[in-house]
Amino acid sequence: MHLQGTMQVNAQGRLTIGGCDVVELAREFGTPLYIFDEDCIRNNCREFYRAFGVKEGLAKVIYAGKAFLTTAMCRIIASEGLGLDVVSGGELYTALAAGFPVENIYFHGNNKSYAELCQALEAGIGRFVVDNFAELELLSRLSTERGQVARVILRVTPGIEAHTHHYIRTGQIDSKFGFTLPNGQAMEAARRLKDLPGIEFKGLHCHIGSQIFELEPYSQAVAVMLELAAAIKEATGLITSELDLGGGFGIYYTAEDHPRPVGAYAETILTRVREEARALNLPQPLVIVEPGRAIIGPAGSTAYTVGTIKEIPGVRKYVAVDGGMADNIRPALYGAKYEAILANKANLPATETVAITGKCCESGDMLIWEADLPRVEAGDILVISCTGAYGYTMSSNYNRLGRPAAVLVREGNADLILKREDYNDLLRNDVVPARLVWTR
Ligand code: LLP
Repeated sequence: MHLQGTMQVNAQGRLTIGGCDVVELAREFGTPLYIFDEDCIRNNCREFYRAFGVKEGLAKVIYAGKAFLTTAMCRIIASEGLGLDVVSGGELYTALAAGFPVENIYFHGNNKSYAELCQALEAGIGRFVVDNFAELELLSRLSTERGQVARVILRVTPGIEAHTHHYIRTGQIDSKFGFTLPNGQAMEAARRLKDLPGIEFKGLHCHIGSQIFELEPYSQAVAVMLELAAAIKEATGLITSELDLGGGFGIYYTAEDHPRPVGAYAETILTRVREEARALNLPQPLVIVEPGRAIIGPAGSTAYTVGTIKEIPGVRKYVAVDGGMADNIRPALYGAKYEAILANKANLPATETVAITGKCCESGDMLIWEADLPRVEAGDILVISCTGAYGYTMSSNYNRLGRPAAVLVREGNADLILKREDYNDLLRNDVVPARLVWTR
């Protein structure tokens, strides 16, 4: 397995993350356990901040909270000078509870409710990334009623396809998100917005997909979006002062993945923006990017305890761990691939290829189909790397498994940032109607 962030193998041959012995962490906090490497998160934030020229005023980096969001995570993101992309009242509530600077909160979503829009206006958030005509009109009405002005970015579907799994592809035309560009809806949105009270136009947004390794789709997106900006200026006089290009920057999960350095994306995007703005005679917009996975993905790992092992001679060896699709649905949902290491045998060479499965009651509950590991035994601590993005946030209580705890590790210290869900948590929302009360 490729060691991420601050991962090391210590003198006892054990995996450490953030200076903490993972076997000890498993003992102290139990398994499954999400482990977040604080230095790695902060380094990733800083790389984006530097590469995109945030200090120089060229860009803003907005962390996409859907990848992983807790109040502690909000604090880290805010302290690194990044903004936050939220997509629901729940994410917004988390950010507000953490004291996240409201002006740096961007509210996305294709079906924001009346209550969510009120909550966001009440909080005075920085930007509404408006997705459709109904939202535009409702937001105008609500902000006018409150005597407020909502600063708006229009989400556009530009018709650019990046090569990625079709569930996580969002930029193509046949998408539930945003105003379609090629059929004129995006222009129509700008026209309507111009006459709406309580709304201030700030710019345009697109998100072309996720786990993208190529640079070209970003470059194309810049060109297409700035052409739209020029057309909008021509037709309405509205100036696109912010160009939000979404997230999607690809990361390493396995040796099949070859991510580009953040600097390569930044260089491609910033150069193209400069050139196109000049060519179209537009003021250069502030670039906004919204990385989620690239900030938190490599910084998170999941530690499990190995339980039963089932060998089917000549077929496969199934190694079952104490979690599974409930804490990481991505392999089952997207066919996502991961690498693993045995934390207590981290210096031993791989001698067998095994399938890592979970404990959920479903054959699709696989974490890794082919993991190369030293000889695996019950009680080993198995660590899957790069689970930081969309692992916890897409977790479930399938089979009434409680969600795992999460710890933040740094320089030998481990702090709990999410408590493990216990049986009481599982019953918390259960209600028994009176007619079902046990009378026997
Ligand atoms: N901005 C917008 C508007 C988005 O829709 C997304 C992701 C992002 C930013 C962040 O994208 P990232 O940098 O993390 O790729 N559950 C899937 C990923 C869904 C992504 C949805 N939108 C997965 O586990 O791979």
